[in-house]
Amino acid sequence: MVYQTFSDQKGTSNSLNKLYKIKFPYVKGKRVLDIGCNEGFFCIEAKKRGAIKVVGIDKNPKLIEKAKKRAPDIDFRTQDWDNLPNEEFDVILLLSTLHYSKTKQKLIDDIYKILSPEGIFILECGGVPGPGKDIEMIRKNGSMVYHPTWKFLTKDLLKNFKQKDIGISVKKDGEGVERRIFHCKKLNSIEDYDLPNEIRPNNSFRNILKNYLPFFK
Ligand SMILES: C[S@@+](CC[C@H](N)C(=O)[O-])C[C@H]1O[C@@H](n2cnc3c(N)ncnc32)[C@H](O)[C@@H]1O
Repeated sequence: MVYQTFSDQKGTSNSLNKLYKIKFPYVKGKRVLDIGCNEGFFCIEAKKRGAIKVVGIDKNPKLIEKAKKRAPDIDFRTQDWDNLPNEEFDVILLLSTLHYSKTKQKLIDDIYKILSPEGIFILECGGVPGPGKDIEMIRKNGSMVYHPTWKFLTKDLLKNFKQKDIGISVKKDGEGVERRIFHCKKLNSIEDYDLPNEIRPNNSFRNILKNYLPFFK
């Protein structure tokens, strides 16, 4: 069964609906990377909307072949996310894929490194309540997936990002977890430190000052 839905193909995912739910950003003149791009739906949308550079990576060569057929002018690469392109991007998408990764912190830290200073990282992923880290679940087709707890995702995995929870994503048949969307920006400017305590990094400017200047307490 195919995953993405195009005008000529019905997949298990309502891709157009997902495009709206994730609040696809303004990409005109921007450099866009889609990690786990599948058949290229979101890359094609980025190109249509005026992105100057669009790269889609997926580890499945058959999907990349199909994506190239759909859009020969887009840079689709058969590539594992363990080895992200060593290039800077303004918009990075990671949609419905995080649960396949056993090394989520590395993946998210690698994304941080190639995101431009004012860039936006859009994460759409499933999560589970609870205090732990990753929860193993067996899917209908038997493959193992690893959903993070929301706590682990927001406090640990995304600790270097300013996060905006955009809300619940599209529902998919047979999926037992809630999926949410996060728009993430790098915590890199002084105004970022006006964030609520719970998402401020421990080494924030304010926390460093707190340790050294008693009147800051
Ligand atoms: C559920 S699909 C989501 C596709 C697309 N992001 C979307 O939301 O429509 C997950 C995609 O991640 C790809 N994928 C899984 N593991 C990967 C890895 N280690 N590196 C790159 N792509 C991977 C799969 O081949 C598949 O196309």
